[in-house]
Amino acid sequence: MSKGLVRSGPDLFSFKIELDLAEKPLMTQNKFKKNILCIGAGYVGGPTMTIIANKCPDYKVTVVDISEERIAAWNSDQLPIFEPGLKERVLKVRGKNLFFSTDIDEAIDQADIIFVSVNTPTKNFGEGAGKAVDLQYIEQTARRIKENSRSNKIVVEKSTLPVRAAETLETILHSGANGVHFEILSNPEFMAEGSGVRDMEFPDRVLIGSKDTPSGLAARKELVDVYLNWVPEENLITTNLWSSELSKLVSNAFLAQRISSINSIAAICEVTEADVTEVSKAVGRDSRIGAKFLNAGPGFGGSCFRKDILNLVYLCEYYQLNEIASFWEQVVTLNDYQMERYVKRILQVMFNTLVGKKLAVFGFAFKPDTGDTRDAPAIYICKRLLEEKACLRITDPHALKNAQKDLEGIDSEVEYIEDPYKAAEGVHGIALITEWAEYSKLDYQKIFDKMEKPAFVFDGRNHLDHKALFEIGFNVYSVGKAPLTHF
Ligand code: UDX
Ligand code: UDX
Repeated sequence: MSKGLVRSGPDLFSFKIELDLAEKPLMTQNKFKKNILCIGAGYVGGPTMTIIANKCPDYKVTVVDISEERIAAWNSDQLPIFEPGLKERVLKVRGKNLFFSTDIDEAIDQADIIFVSVNTPTKNFGEGAGKAVDLQYIEQTARRIKENSRSNKIVVEKSTLPVRAAETLETILHSGANGVHFEILSNPEFMAEGSGVRDMEFPDRVLIGSKDTPSGLAARKELVDVYLNWVPEENLITTNLWSSELSKLVSNAFLAQRISSINSIAAICEVTEADVTEVSKAVGRDSRIGAKFLNAGPGFGGSCFRKDILNLVYLCEYYQLNEIASFWEQVVTLNDYQMERYVKRILQVMFNTLVGKKLAVFGFAFKPDTGDTRDAPAIYICKRLLEEKACLRITDPHALKNAQKDLEGIDSEVEYIEDPYKAAEGVHGIALITEWAEYSKLDYQKIFDKMEKPAFVFDGRNHLDHKALFEIGFNVYSVGKAPLTHF
């Protein structure tokens, strides 16, 4: 089996067949305690199931997806997502108790516990457009589970859903009564990209929401038993279904709200010559506030924060809690303002015109250690810079392919360059948007020597050594700090 694991490219197909053949004897031997299935092999489903399979060798874990391409990638050497530590863990258990497949219907039939991890984007049409969650994939998945189930199952909401979505799921699953009982649990994920493996292996908490009925509590125990394979009991929090669903939205809303709060303070720092890093440090030292998530930046991104806050806003509006809706909506408004402020600063500093000027964009991913660019501030910022007719040279260690997709159709003045030194050659300024570790280790003297003068750095993450850059000759503008300039 192991030789199959190193195959890739043209051998992909035969590799999959090998996996399938290997899978059959294990199933017939029935050597597994339970069959776990995850529908949706994305950023959440793939890593979550990989860790469960690693930690629970006596559970068979299958991950299915409607995308053949995604499943083929999970079965290959080139995983569809980049996440530190993930590949080693996939290779350790793939073909043993972790399987990736497109045979959704058969996998549903065989499963005892089904995690639903399909995407839940913000609705972009009709009622609630721009705020409410588009539940079409959840509903389609629920119908498919119902159609293919011949035995009782636990269905776990892993995707972030609106509060009371479990009720809808249950109604769909139990409609047309075929004698099968489904018990719904909510088990939101709190993994952050880039640290997903660690977050899953050493979680601050695992939250499981269930109904307070005998079957609800029994289902909850089954899921608790899975996590007890590696999570200390005191880190398992059990609640009712609605509290669990709401806690996920609230966690992300609180985290995003801290970022908008510190970004608002960054704007004050830039005009008063206070330093946002010093302010964060001083404020975060109060144990009631805490030091984390107080880094000012160009705005938060990622697939969750905006979507989940807007989901919360929609919920408030639905219940006519309008003041509360506008309180949370302000977190998103402030984030939009922060991205725009970053662009405006570049424009103003570079003599109010960017026409024909070259800018190197350092980092496109929404955060380091991931190739994910969903809702990345870089998308908005680059689009605005292109509107100002700047020429962009975008560099990123893992996100260039996604950047290309995000800017498709408007990128005639964009070059995608892997090597940051090459990206910076002949440019007028560097805009650092993602704090990849390697960017702080570059030879900035070498970069400066090949740039147009005056040379500018716009450090959107306070990631670089500003004093050293200034001494080399750069004019340095960083978020929430007074500029260091030579004129
Ligand atoms: C998704 C949601 O976006 C997020 O709100 C939730 O918290 C967890 O699930 P993520 O894993 O990051 O997060 O999404 P994505 O990478 O888009 O993966 C979803 C996968 O579901 C895709 O591979 C898609 O092909 C698959 N899918 C979607 C199905 O298998 N069936 C469907 O009907 C729809
Ligand atoms: C988030 C939550 O952290 C996680 O618990 C949840 O399960 C999914 O959503 P993720 O979006 O992967 O995770 O990354 P996160 O580390 O939260 O960063 C989100 C955004 O906030 C990034 O764009 C990041 O750069 C930004 N950020 C984070 C800041 O601007 N400043 C900070 O201090 C922290």
